Amino acid sequence: MAVERETRNSLLFAVNGERFELSSVDPSTTVLEFLRSQTRFKSVKLGCGEGGCGACVVLLSKYDPVLDQVEDFTASSCLTLLCSVNGCSITTTEGLGNSRDGFHPIHQRFTGFHASQCGFCTPGMCVSLFAALVNAEKTNRPEPSLGFSKLTVSEAEKAISGNLCRCTGYRSIADACKSFAADADIEDLGLNSFWRNGDSKEVKINRLPFYNGSNEISTFPEFLKKEIRSSRLLDSKRFSWYNPVSVKELQSLLESIEADNGNSIKLVSGNTGMGYYKELDRYDRYIDIRCIPELSSIRKDPTGIEIGATVTISKVIEALKKENKCEVHSKGEMVFKKIANHMEKIASGFVRNTASVGGNLVMAQRKHFPSDIATILLAVGSTVDIMNGPRHENIMLEEFLERPPLDSKTVLLTVKIPKWDRIKKMSCETNSMLLFETYRAAPRPLGNALPYLNAAFLAELSRCKPSDEIIINNCQLAFGAYGAKHAIRAKKLEEFLAGKILSVGVLYEAIKLVRATVIPEDGTSSPAYRSSLAIGFLFDFLSPLIDNRGEISNGLLDGYMSNVLVKDSKINHNHVQLDHNKTRTLLSSAKQVLGLSTEYHPVGEPITKSGASIQASGEAIYVDDIPSPANCLYGSFICSTKPLARVKGIKFQPKPYPDGLAAVITYKDIPTGGENIGSKTIFGTEPLFAEELTECAGQRLAFVVADTQKHADMAIKCAVVDYDMENLEPPILSVEEAVKRSSLFEVPSFLYPKQVGDILEGMAEADQKIVSAEIKLGSQYYFYMETQTALAVPDEDNCMVVYSSSQVPEWTHIVIARCLGIPDHNVRVITRRVGGGFGGKAVKAMPVATACALAAHKLRRPVRIYLDRKTDMIMAGGRHPMKITYSVGFKSNGKITALQLDILIDAGLSADISPMMPHNVMGALKKYDWGALSFDIKVCKTNHSSKSAMRAPGEVQGSFIAEAVIEHVASVLSMEVDSVRSINLHTYNSLNLFYEGGADEPFEYTLPSIWDSLAASSRLCHRTEMVKEFNRDNKWRKRGISRIPIVHEVMLRPTPGKVSILHDGSIVVEVGGIELGQGLWTKVKQMAAFALSSIKCDGAGDLLDKVRVIQSDTLSLIQGGFTAGSTTSESSCEAVRLCCNILVERLRPLRERLQEQMDSIQWAMLIDQRKKDLVDGVRELDITTEDSTEIRVHIVQFYAQLDLEIRAHICPTLDGLSFNSIGIDEGSWLKREFESEAHLQVVNLSASSYFVPDLTSMRYLNYGAAVEVNLLTGETTILQTDIIYDCGQSLNPAVDLGQIEGAFVQGIGFFMLEEYLTNSNGLVVVEGTWTYKIPTLDTIPKQFNVQVLNSGHHQKRVLSSKASGEPPLLLAASVHCATRAAIKEARKQLLSWSSQSGSTTNSTTFQLEVPATMPVVKELCGLESVERYLEWSMGTK
Ligand SMILES: Cc1cc2nc3c(=O)[nH]c(=O)nc-3n(C[C@H](O)[C@H](O)[C@H](O)COP(=O)(O)OP(=O)(O)OC[C@H]3O[C@@H](n4cnc5c(N)ncnc54)[C@H](O)[C@@H]3O)c2cc1C
Ligand code: FES
Ligand code: FES
Repeated sequence: MAVERETRNSLLFAVNGERFELSSVDPSTTVLEFLRSQTRFKSVKLGCGEGGCGACVVLLSKYDPVLDQVEDFTASSCLTLLCSVNGCSITTTEGLGNSRDGFHPIHQRFTGFHASQCGFCTPGMCVSLFAALVNAEKTNRPEPSLGFSKLTVSEAEKAISGNLCRCTGYRSIADACKSFAADADIEDLGLNSFWRNGDSKEVKINRLPFYNGSNEISTFPEFLKKEIRSSRLLDSKRFSWYNPVSVKELQSLLESIEADNGNSIKLVSGNTGMGYYKELDRYDRYIDIRCIPELSSIRKDPTGIEIGATVTISKVIEALKKENKCEVHSKGEMVFKKIANHMEKIASGFVRNTASVGGNLVMAQRKHFPSDIATILLAVGSTVDIMNGPRHENIMLEEFLERPPLDSKTVLLTVKIPKWDRIKKMSCETNSMLLFETYRAAPRPLGNALPYLNAAFLAELSRCKPSDEIIINNCQLAFGAYGAKHAIRAKKLEEFLAGKILSVGVLYEAIKLVRATVIPEDGTSSPAYRSSLAIGFLFDFLSPLIDNRGEISNGLLDGYMSNVLVKDSKINHNHVQLDHNKTRTLLSSAKQVLGLSTEYHPVGEPITKSGASIQASGEAIYVDDIPSPANCLYGSFICSTKPLARVKGIKFQPKPYPDGLAAVITYKDIPTGGENIGSKTIFGTEPLFAEELTECAGQRLAFVVADTQKHADMAIKCAVVDYDMENLEPPILSVEEAVKRSSLFEVPSFLYPKQVGDILEGMAEADQKIVSAEIKLGSQYYFYMETQTALAVPDEDNCMVVYSSSQVPEWTHIVIARCLGIPDHNVRVITRRVGGGFGGKAVKAMPVATACALAAHKLRRPVRIYLDRKTDMIMAGGRHPMKITYSVGFKSNGKITALQLDILIDAGLSADISPMMPHNVMGALKKYDWGALSFDIKVCKTNHSSKSAMRAPGEVQGSFIAEAVIEHVASVLSMEVDSVRSINLHTYNSLNLFYEGGADEPFEYTLPSIWDSLAASSRLCHRTEMVKEFNRDNKWRKRGISRIPIVHEVMLRPTPGKVSILHDGSIVVEVGGIELGQGLWTKVKQMAAFALSSIKCDGAGDLLDKVRVIQSDTLSLIQGGFTAGSTTSESSCEAVRLCCNILVERLRPLRERLQEQMDSIQWAMLIDQRKKDLVDGVRELDITTEDSTEIRVHIVQFYAQLDLEIRAHICPTLDGLSFNSIGIDEGSWLKREFESEAHLQVVNLSASSYFVPDLTSMRYLNYGAAVEVNLLTGETTILQTDIIYDCGQSLNPAVDLGQIEGAFVQGIGFFMLEEYLTNSNGLVVVEGTWTYKIPTLDTIPKQFNVQVLNSGHHQKRVLSSKASGEPPLLLAASVHCATRAAIKEARKQLLSWSSQSGSTTNSTTFQLEVPATMPVVKELCGLESVERYLEWSMGTK
């Protein structure tokens, strides 16, 4: 029986101080859905919908009326259910400040530190930081100095460590956040717009936008406090949302539901489980169990800590840490501390703040979720309380996990962690010591990534007298998340170790048992790697007790560093602490050196990015932020899962008509006269939909249209496609098969690169050769934060307006017109800004916009789409995979004489831009002087989804292949790789030969000097020596260092521009290029201001603020072309300069005429303000008084010049004034004035141009990096990166710096982390943030030094500037090369251990895959390295 209590019949909460009261809501609605679809607060962005990116983070505030306290915490709004925020206050970045009322210092500092590019991640970043600031202010830490907060640098970094950004590379974001920290060294903060060179510390602090923590905005409005005092529980029936307040009530509720047959129920705690299981379904009833005191409290007693099942992970961490603070010396408390430390690596702060311990354990129990909590709590002997109907049970966690999956009515009530120093010990041994450690190996060290394996070990030890050896009295060893059903205790191993004196032999036997125990289930990825991790962890735990027993006599737990990696290290690694548990800050200070130039003011200045502040405040409007027009429908794609099959039909199951379904659009809906076309490049077209035959997995089969995006997304999940494969040829799923079946795309001869020299001669010159070595390169996904999106609105007279997030609106326009069979002038494509593109929103955005247009055309209603991440990943195609076979000839001194390559490129189904790939690959590969270069490149047509351009398409592969060849030669010759690189760098002459005369002037070949200055600035020799020393002294960590050059050829393309000067002198600019976050608008603004300033009137030097670049509109500015290839900013700038030059020429006669009349001509006066100023002046004149004739003449002259509107305006003032009265013959004067005024009248203040560049241009760039590799786990840590990048005379060094850092970090993703995996049918199987890992703050270089080199005048460039968007991505190959160097050291060591056992692995020659993920690295370092080491130890002792 439900307990009678007061409830509300409406859902009440506040957003940014505004009151929201809802009388009904679908209980499956998330906070994100509500905010985005029903409020004006669109800053919460949908990046993943699964808790993995942070784009949707909001601050949730709860008020406790009893304590009169507000609790503030971040939450992912994509997972938080709206009903669960009843009585809460939500703050988004709009709530912090805005362009009208003033920005918040967070917004201002994000802008000033250049921490926003596409801006899609920025609102979430700002809120994450704001929450950290708010909570830091609540601490009783000492008051910080003026302008700072109580936040620490480490907290500032952690605040954003779970937020993804694909553009910036994070360093600038981290600096913006750190600038608030009380302990920040202001001198350590990076480039920003607030400081000038040479400013003192005080001046710098004063120039930061002022922050006053005690004055911070209130997160909980007073009105809400009053209203929720009465009741905060919802009327259950109305909302299907139940809030039991006692266990008894929950029990009776569950019983009553049981009687109510067939109804589905869901127990809800934080609802973050939805992020993993992606339930979109609506349940009949939701039972929110967080209001039950037993389930929501933490109770401590001498036997341990009992945690209610709904207590959030963040609260548990806090409680466990608090416990530790009370009794610093208690060893049992150290167990709590280590559990807390481990829990801090689960997900990210904004997930932990709502995710409950109980939810986690139930997911582990019921659905085999790879939980960390289950493993660590298992090792410490935790118990759980469960309830099923009237039955309560208290059982060991181990038993709980082993039981069959709980039914939906069983409730986990509490979990208890015993206190270990009170539990007396596991044995009766006196004088025993306790040892506890937890482990996890995951792609990202700080968390936000599921582990490959986790482990927790608890051991009770004592010391043998007099030998001082260690006996393991007893131990509890748990392993989990490795692909078993649930975490396990390794019982046999525990039994084996109990009572043993620790020795190398015992450890060796123990490790054999681990190998026999930790066996991932079939289908688990990298099973051998996972088993080897288990061994590595146990070795890490126990081996210090054998090797260093003298050191652990006191305070075993406090002083014990189980981590052999830390013990191992005798070198003080320059300012980088490597043990992440002990890491104070993630990043150390970095240097940014900019070559500034004032020659073309304001071009060349590091001004802040246009629109950055409104991106931070959430006011910037992306396509999906445009409010839905009335009657709008929403689409979602059904994609093929088969590579080659007939499509017989599509139906929906279980319901034939899913909720809200409006239509299913296929190729059959293309109107007469239209074409089945989805995209187009100069090489061909791709159909919008498969017709009878689907030819690749991921191909679009249909477009489902429904009343909401959620319904459309749910409908495609229910779609069942009937395929038929009878009598079809097998699909082509490999490049080898494509070659065999001659399935190739033609490469136009003018695009096919030229061979260099005579390969036979080159080979004949060689002392040695490597023959037919192979490299394979995989794909990469764009992971723009904003997925593909479009909105199509039918307009009058058979027209269609399409808002598209596109890098190429012009071609999108053409495709839409062709698909609909209407003239081009009936279509208009509008693009304002794009939330990240990287090439993925060029060709691949076209079918998305076209499908919306087709559906809108057919249904005569607006249709929009925002792709879910999974479908986006399936359809995207991504980077081109390729297989390379090379033979290389070289001299004994390392000089290469000939390189022969066979390259097979997998282009997928359609040509897209793939025929460009041979040119791009070779362009970057030719960076070395290969002597003779010969190649055969085939672009293969396969039954994979079509690959498209991704940032540095082909170039990144080409540059990498070059490095792989160099590395291979060096290892065969046993030479330092760096020497082989140096010896093969081009001379100016060889460069000119390889690039067919494109090397410009000799002084413009800056690579050799950059190569040398990088060695000096990064102290390469010194650091190489340090690396050697480190490697000598450390067994389980190895380092590598690598310096690589790049030469990157880019091409300027024709681009249009249009500049118009409005009445008030403000300037509006349209360009062909699209703002993708790369700073195009900013550079264009600078260029417009610079070019117009040549009119040379007062104020024209300061036009920057008067310029606005507006959205691209394909009917307003035609021939926009592609925004791609790094150069669109430059060419757009040049187009704008041409327009401005035209305008200046038009205005010059007028300026000269005015110059004769006045001493000073203001810009505004020149254009129009002049009139207004005079109007105001005339108004103020009392013209009835005795004015001087001069003034009167002036007035009348001016009067004559005014247009009719203004004349009417001032007429009253001029009443009574006649020409005769001031002695002027009106007729002749007016005639004369009108004649001269004609200058003004005919000045067309709008100018268009089309910039057509002459030649291609090349770039010369360079870089160095250092990497450390952990041999037990395969984890790589990038300690330092130094880049020198030749930007010519940068148009904006701050923007270019952001491009360099961002591209480099995206390159780290390609080379080290990102696996874009497909199944055997070629269907993409990675679905989002859970499985696709882009770099986060904790995976970027710890120290990241970048020099933007100003290499002076380059005649052929736009104001001597060079592109920065793509080339720096290639530089990230250095991280891969440095990893290879570290692995080489590990393999040498392994060989020395193995030689005893007769094994002879070739240590130096091996291929390191791309990406070099942890399993890949570990495998090369030796999956059995621990065994080999122990065998070696046993043999030598
Ligand atoms: C992005 C992300 C990353 C993550 N990374 C990790 C990680 O690295 N390691 C790790 O261990 N975890 C990780 N998690 C999992 C996270 O810890 C769990 O999602 C979370 O703890 C579940 O708690 P919840 O309160 O949100 O549960 P809910 O989502 O509310 O519930 C989960 C399930 O359990 C049921 N349930 C909840 N409470 C009870 C109860 N008391 N009794 C019976 N049934 C109940 C619900 O009905 C539901 O079926 C991650 C989660 C996310 C979103
Ligand atoms: S959209 Fe919510 S975390 Fe990514
Ligand atoms: S600025 Fe961070 S994702 Fe673009």
